[in-house]
Amino acid sequence: MSSPSISVFGLGYVGSVTAAVLAERGCRVIGCDVTGSKVDQINRGEAPIGEPGLNELLRTQREAGNIRATLDVNEAVTDSEISIVCVGTPSSPSGALDLQYVETVSRQLADAIRRKGSDHVVVFRSTMLPGSTRRLAETYFAGLETPFLVYFFPEFLRQGTALEDFRNPSLSVIGALQSGQSLDAVSVILDETTEMVPVESAELIKYACNAFHAMKVVFANEVGRIGKALEIDSRAVMDALCRDSRLNISPYYLKPGTPFGGSCLPKDVAALTHQARKLGVAVPMLDSLMESNRRHLESVLERIEQVGTRRVILIGLAFKEGTDDLRGSAMLELAAQLLMRGFEVKIYDPAVSASNLIGANKVFAHARLPLFETLMIPCLEDAFPDVCDLTLVVSKPCVQIESIESCLQKGGKHHIIDVNGWKNLAGVNAGYEGLCW
Ligand SMILES: NC(=O)c1ccc[n+]([C@@H]2O[C@H](COP(=O)([O-])OP(=O)(O)OC[C@H]3O[C@@H](n4cnc5c(N)ncnc54)[C@H](O)[C@@H]3O)[C@@H](O)[C@H]2O)c1
Repeated sequence: MSSPSISVFGLGYVGSVTAAVLAERGCRVIGCDVTGSKVDQINRGEAPIGEPGLNELLRTQREAGNIRATLDVNEAVTDSEISIVCVGTPSSPSGALDLQYVETVSRQLADAIRRKGSDHVVVFRSTMLPGSTRRLAETYFAGLETPFLVYFFPEFLRQGTALEDFRNPSLSVIGALQSGQSLDAVSVILDETTEMVPVESAELIKYACNAFHAMKVVFANEVGRIGKALEIDSRAVMDALCRDSRLNISPYYLKPGTPFGGSCLPKDVAALTHQARKLGVAVPMLDSLMESNRRHLESVLERIEQVGTRRVILIGLAFKEGTDDLRGSAMLELAAQLLMRGFEVKIYDPAVSASNLIGANKVFAHARLPLFETLMIPCLEDAFPDVCDLTLVVSKPCVQIESIESCLQKGGKHHIIDVNGWKNLAGVNAGYEGLCW
C-alpha cells in the first residue's frame, strides 16, 4: 500500500517536526499555517523553528518533492487523506485551557472535508483536556455526510531532541472515540508499541505525564534546597535515589489506591518538612503530601457516605499487604472516622490478630480505635447476619470471593468499594465501584 498524503495544521514546534519526519517516512506532506512566513520557510526548505537537524531534514525532503506548505485549508484537505492538528493550546489568563485555535481549525477542516466530499481522517496532536476531542468531533464532524474518523494522539517529543523523539517515541498511545475503532487508516503515524485507549484516557495520559515531569523537577529542587541548607551535595543524593530501580524509578508506588501509611512514610515526611521549616527552606510540594493523603482518605469516606448504607465491613486493615502492622494504617483511620460519623463497622483481616498485637502497634491501634478488639471479626459471615444493605470496603485480596458472596444477603442492596483494584470483585453480585476508576 502506498504511503498516504498527510496535511499538517500548525507549523510550530510540533507541526514542523511532524511534517518533516512523515515526509522522511515516505508520505506526501502538505503543511498549513496561518502565518505566511512559516509557510514560505517550509516552501524554501527551511525550518520555521529552531530544532537541531530540522533544517537539513526539511531541505532534503523539500528537494525530494515530499513536502510543501500552504495558507489554504481547502487545498491542504483536498490534497490529503489524513489531517494532523498541531496548533497551539495555550493557557488563558485564568490558567484555563484556550482551545480557540483547535476550534477554528476544526471548523475549517469540517467545511473543507464537506467540500471535498470523500473520506477523511482527523488526528489531534494538540494537547487537550479530557472530553475535548469528543466534543470537537460531535460539534464539527458528526454532521458530515462523508465518512470520517477522529483520533487523539498525544505527542511526547521534547524540544531539542524532537526529531529523535518523534522517530522513537518514549510513549505511544492513541485515543479512539469508539472501542475497536480500526487503526488501519493511521498506521503510518504509529509504531509497533502504540496502544489504543479510550480517547479521554489518551487526553489524561498526556496531562498525567507532564504533571509527573513537573513534579519530578520540583521534587528534585526541593531536595536540592534542603541539601544546600545542610551543606550536602544533593546531586549525589538524587543520583543515589535514581539508582534504586525497584522502589524509586519504577512503577512501584504509582498505582492509585490506598493513601500512604505505615510506620515510616508519614513519620519521615513529617520530620523532613519540619526540618525544612527550621532551616527556613520553602518546600511546598513536600508540605502538601500529608494534606493530599488526608484528602484521599476523605474521598473514601465521601464514597461510603454517598452509598447511603450505615453498616460497613472493612476488608484488610494493616497498612499494606503482607504485614500485620497497623501503624499509620489508612483503613484503621477510616474505621475511626466512620465510627465518629455513626456508622456500624466491622473489620476483617486474617493477618491481624487482636490478641497478638504488641508494642507500638498495639498502642497505635488502641489510640485510634479504643474498642479495636470488638470490631475485628474472625469470618465475614459473622459480621452482620441478616442485614440487607452492606458496604464492603476492600483494600486487599485477603479473603475468598465465595466468603464475600456468602456474607451478602440475597436480594439485598450491597455495595463494594474496591480500594486497590482487585479484579475479581467486579464479578460479585453487588454494586461495585473502584476508588479511582
Ligand atoms: N512544544 C512542545 O514541545 C510540545 C510537545 C508536545 C505537545 N505539544 C503540544 O502541541 C501543540 C502545539 O505546540 P507547539 O509548541 O508546536 O505550538 P506553536 O505555537 O509552536 O505552533 C502552533 C502553530 O499553529 C499555528 N496556527 C494557529 N492557528 C492556526 C490555524 N487556524 N491553522 C493553521 N495553523 C494555525 C500557529 O501559527 C503556529 O505556527 C500544543 O497543544 C502543545 O501543548 C507541544
